[in-house]
Amino acid sequence: MGQIRSIISAHPNREISGSTFFLSLKAAAVQQIAALFPGRWERNYVATKLRTDPLYAALTTHFRDSPLPLLDLGCGLGLLGLFLRKEGIEVPIHGLDYDSRKITMAKRAATSSNHQGLTFAHHDARTGLPEHLGNVSILDILQFFTPAQQESLLKLAAARVATGAKLVIRSGLRDDSWRFKITVMGDLLAKATFWMKTAPTHYPSREDFERILAPFGNVSISPLWGGTPFNNHLIILAR
Ligand SMILES: C[S@@+](CC[C@H](N)C(=O)[O-])C[C@H]1O[C@@H](n2cnc3c(N)ncnc32)[C@H](O)[C@@H]1O
Repeated sequence: MGQIRSIISAHPNREISGSTFFLSLKAAAVQQIAALFPGRWERNYVATKLRTDPLYAALTTHFRDSPLPLLDLGCGLGLLGLFLRKEGIEVPIHGLDYDSRKITMAKRAATSSNHQGLTFAHHDARTGLPEHLGNVSILDILQFFTPAQQESLLKLAAARVATGAKLVIRSGLRDDSWRFKITVMGDLLAKATFWMKTAPTHYPSREDFERILAPFGNVSISPLWGGTPFNNHLIILAR
């Protein structure tokens, strides 16, 4: 354990966070990303999100060794792309989101950071997906889709995953847990505060992911809630 900790600590951009033993960017790198955003509210949101959510460190593990481009669906402020660049991952990353305010901020952050090959565009994922062959990510957006829209998006995304690449999804899973109830409340709060344009519509279950994605490759599902109370899981399709 001590050896693992020292190997991890040696990475210039990483630190071990508390007793939960997940990896996160060092405070300076978090502040550098947060400083790319215009308002104090956005900077605080970005810094807190990067410090507390194990999502981006988990995605780094999955994409670190792939030379293939990444399509990030529902990219929001572009935090995944900015995080991966800080981790030294230099593949082309294209983020899409239907919230033009967030896309404007993501583009501005990418320009200010001087990162190459980090691009963003306004796009509603319910209207189809652009051409792509590589890795794909869908993080925390499926709850805004109807079951039919979820199935359509998952199939379109899976068809864009190259052999040897991955579709990595984070989603709250619909089940009987108290975590699921808190997940729904959290998304309703995001809508009430106008951070999200819409309220959640439907949460997919574990069985939904297995049924829809298994024809495309190997599917694995594991918890990814870190220190949060949410019912977040990581769903991986490996082709
Ligand atoms: C909870 S945020 C997650 C942002 C980002 N994936 C992340 O993890 O940092 C959900 C994002 O999905 C976007 N979104 C929701 N419905 C969408 C749609 N139909 N097409 C594109 N983006 C959508 C929202 O605008 C929002 O930025």
